[in-house]
Amino acid sequence: MSTSQTATRTAHRRRYLMCRPVHFTVNYSINPWMEPANPTDTAKALAQWQKLHDLYLELGHEVELIDPLPDYPDMVYTANGGFVIDGRAYAPKFRFEERAGEAPAFADWFRAAGFDTVIPEEVNEGEGDFLLAGDVILAGTGFRSTGDSHREVGEVFGREVVSLNLVDPRFYHLDTALAVLDPVVGEGERANIAYLPHAFDEASQKVLAERFPDAILVSDDDGAVFGLNSASDGYNVVISPRAKGFEQQLRERGYNPILIDLSELLLGGGGIKCCTLELRGAK
Ligand code: ARG
Repeated sequence: MSTSQTATRTAHRRRYLMCRPVHFTVNYSINPWMEPANPTDTAKALAQWQKLHDLYLELGHEVELIDPLPDYPDMVYTANGGFVIDGRAYAPKFRFEERAGEAPAFADWFRAAGFDTVIPEEVNEGEGDFLLAGDVILAGTGFRSTGDSHREVGEVFGREVVSLNLVDPRFYHLDTALAVLDPVVGEGERANIAYLPHAFDEASQKVLAERFPDAILVSDDDGAVFGLNSASDGYNVVISPRAKGFEQQLRERGYNPILIDLSELLLGGGGIKCCTLELRGAK
């Protein structure tokens, strides 16, 4: 049995950056999920977010908070606020004007928290499009982060970058179409991933199949409810309660799925992972 299928999983303590959705609403549309005509319920968003936040603490993780800015209803999606490895933070440069003002706030937060902060030249939306799998960076492009940012992120961190092309507008960030299940792997070991194949073009599907032959392939139904937009500590995987098939697949592989409903935040086109930025190193 290959390591990716063994049932012994280890939870690793994580450190996350989150932002309370006090100003959450949908008053513009920059992805197919956002429909400004539909009402949003900020109190409900806050209550759902709080459950995720409290669960992380119960699981033994550390959660840092960034102050929400009044004019930035999408700031709750902190995954887009940067990409952080080994105490270095690569700040974002948002694709759309609507979110541009979040970038300096995240950069300031990283600096104040002691991270070596790199201001990017290229358009990139942080951990929405960059995921660390073992020692390689999986990088998405097609809707938000540019191909040039893939080169830049590789230079900033001195790591191999695997570029993946997203083709379905519903899955506009890499973290909506792919999840890394093992945040920490031993030397020479490969991280398990899960993904929705048809969110990627054929060439990228081939790359993924070659690099991750044991990956969990999720169904369209589970992908469409943002099932992949999840947070794993290596054992506990926080997922949407709607992703029934994925829940089962995770159990079969020895993970412990925990269900958290962020239906209100889905109105902005974001889920669990979008609200969670990993802070690796520093302190
Ligand atoms: N409304 C936000 C946007 O379109 C949602 C961001 C979701 N974040 C993510 N990491 N996928 O930018």
